[in-house]
Order: sequence, then C-alpha cells, then structure tokens
Amino acid sequence: MRILITGGAGCLGSNLIERYIPQGCQILAIDNFATGKKEVLPPVSGLEVVEGSIASADLVRECFERFKPTHVIHSAAAYKDPADWAEDAATNITGTIHIAKASLSSGVRRFVNFQTALCYGRPSKVPISVLHPLAPFTSYGISKTAGERYLLQSGLPVISLRLANICGPRLAIGPIPTFYKRLKAGQKCFCSDTVRDFLDMEDFFSLMDIVLNPEAPAGVFNVSTGEGHTIKDVFDAVASYLGVNPGEVPIIPPGVDDVPAVVLDPAETERAFGWKASRNFIETINRQLQWYDQYGVTDIFSHLSTVAPGK
Ligand SMILES: NC(=O)c1ccc[n+]([C@@H]2O[C@H](COP(=O)([O-])OP(=O)(O)OC[C@H]3O[C@@H](n4cnc5c(N)ncnc54)[C@H](O)[C@@H]3O)[C@@H](O)[C@H]2O)c1
Repeated sequence: MRILITGGAGCLGSNLIERYIPQGCQILAIDNFATGKKEVLPPVSGLEVVEGSIASADLVRECFERFKPTHVIHSAAAYKDPADWAEDAATNITGTIHIAKASLSSGVRRFVNFQTALCYGRPSKVPISVLHPLAPFTSYGISKTAGERYLLQSGLPVISLRLANICGPRLAIGPIPTFYKRLKAGQKCFCSDTVRDFLDMEDFFSLMDIVLNPEAPAGVFNVSTGEGHTIKDVFDAVASYLGVNPGEVPIIPPGVDDVPAVVLDPAETERAFGWKASRNFIETINRQLQWYDQYGVTDIFSHLSTVAPGK
C-alpha cells in the first residue's frame, strides 16, 4: 500500500504510521503541526513527511502527483481554537475538498475519513445510531460534518468512521491523563457529570486493517464499544490502578456547550465487518495507564525509531 496520511503527526495518524511502516507500507504524511508534533515522526525508511497545510491546493496536488497514493487516510483536523471558524473551515472543509479532488485525479482505491461524534450534536437517544440525524453545533463539528458530506458525494470509495474516544500511545488530553497526573501528584480532582465511550487503539487498528481493503463495505460507520461510562467511572478506575483513596470527589454539571452523554452504537459496524471491540473499559484504561507508567504523560515519545525497518 502507498498510503497518504493527512494529519500524520497527530495522535491517530502517528499511531497508524507506527503500525503500517513496519508492515512495509510506503507512507507520505502531510501535517502543519498545528496540534501534532514533528518529533513523533523521526526519519525512517518508507516514510516521507511534508510540512504544510492541506488548505493549500498546490501543496496537496504536488504531493498526490509525486507520491501516487493507492490509499488515503484523512486524519487532519482543525479544532484548537473554537472561535477560529475560518481555520476550522479552511482545514476541515476546504482542505478536505482539496484531498478529495486530488484523490479523484489519482484514482485512489480506498479513502478512510475520521469523523467526530459531535456530528450528532446533542443526541436524542444513546447509544447513538449511525442513522441519527446530524445536528452539529460547534465550529469543529459543523466543519467536520461539511467535509464528510463532500466526501460522501464525491464518488470516491470513501469510508467515514465516526469515532469514540480512542485510547492509546500519546493520548495527552481528556480525563485519563488529567486524573493520572493529578492523583499521582496528590492533587484534588473534580468530575463533570458526563458519559463517554472509550475504545482501545488495538481495537481501532483491527478495524483499520479491515476497512483499508478496497473490497470492504464503504459508507458511514460508528466505531465504539457501544458502552458508556461516566467520568467518575474513569476517575475511580485511575484511582484504583494507582492504589490511592482520594475520598469524595465533586461531580459538577456539564458546561453549556458540553454534551451530557455521547455513546456510539456500533451494531451496524459489527454486522458489516464482523468486527467487535475486544477490550473492556477497565482493560482499556489500565493499558493507557501502563503506557503512562512507562513513558509519562507525553505526546512526543515515538515508537517509530525502534520498530521501523531499514533505518
Ligand atoms: N482521537 C480520537 O479519539 C478521535 C475521536 C473522534 C474523531 N477523531 C478524528 O480523528 C482525526 C485525528 O484526530 P487526533 O485525535 O489524531 O487529533 P490530532 O490533533 O492529534 O491530529 C490532527 C492532526 O492534523 C494536523 N493538522 C491540523 N490542521 C492541518 C492542516 N490544515 N493541514 C495538515 N495537517 C493539519 C495537526 O497538526 C495534527 O497533527 C481527526 O479528524 C479527528 O476529528 C479523533
């Protein structure tokens, strides 16, 4: 496979590169390092890193014409500043359009897009069916949803994966690293009164291996265990792993722009691909915490320098 990965220096992009480079794939990663880190992609054989924005049509065209990808994994996304609508639109809509047009010209055989569960807005029911109406209300959600709509009507062999919270190497945001750091330092914590779903990176990988096959079904799919857990469940799991007894922890109501419960229903994905998440909540959290024990709560440690062939 010749895989062009947008957002290759990000959490999911870099984990996928660490998975597919040792398997002998050729990879070109485009990243502007808005939220990704250069250091996670050291120079290794089979990997080319292009620094730049997918909002540049010329840069995207040049990369496709030179690299001639057979597969695209579209992982780049802008979300850093919720007030910067123009940047979100430039990356998540215009950038997606550039990647789609270049993929059409290059005859890409498989296009995998990643979508946020925020596309469903405030769901009327959980777990959220893949047929639930779309009602994004944040700049990130709105622009990602527009990008996904362009892809789905482009005529490309697109699969768009609407993702739960993926846990794995370099996860540095959200409740798990926060509780780990604070509880280890003996600091006080609070939990927002919300419910989320968590999926282990290895389960995400096993689905990616299936969906990269051009023969696999295309369309839109939820990727999740289908099980919701409160942030307090996460807190309890981290405290138990660390063997600390933090006592009472305040539970605060969700913020006005927060969604109380996001749990994706993976039933259709399980049926279409014969795939099912194999790791339960506690295993997933504990594997994440073991990673922090080994490497610290960092977003820069790279496994690539130790696993890549021909370095
Ligand atoms: N990680 C999750 O649990 C999760 C959940 C739902 C959806 N997603 C989606 O998966 C994708 C990857 O998410 P992530 O968690 O790895 O985020 P991330 O921020 O770690 O990765 C995104 C990458 O895109 C890069 N980028 C941003 N704007 C760019 C531009 N204009 N041109 C080129 N590169 C650009 C960033 O520098 C970063 O490296 C995103 O599309 C996101 O919406 C992720």
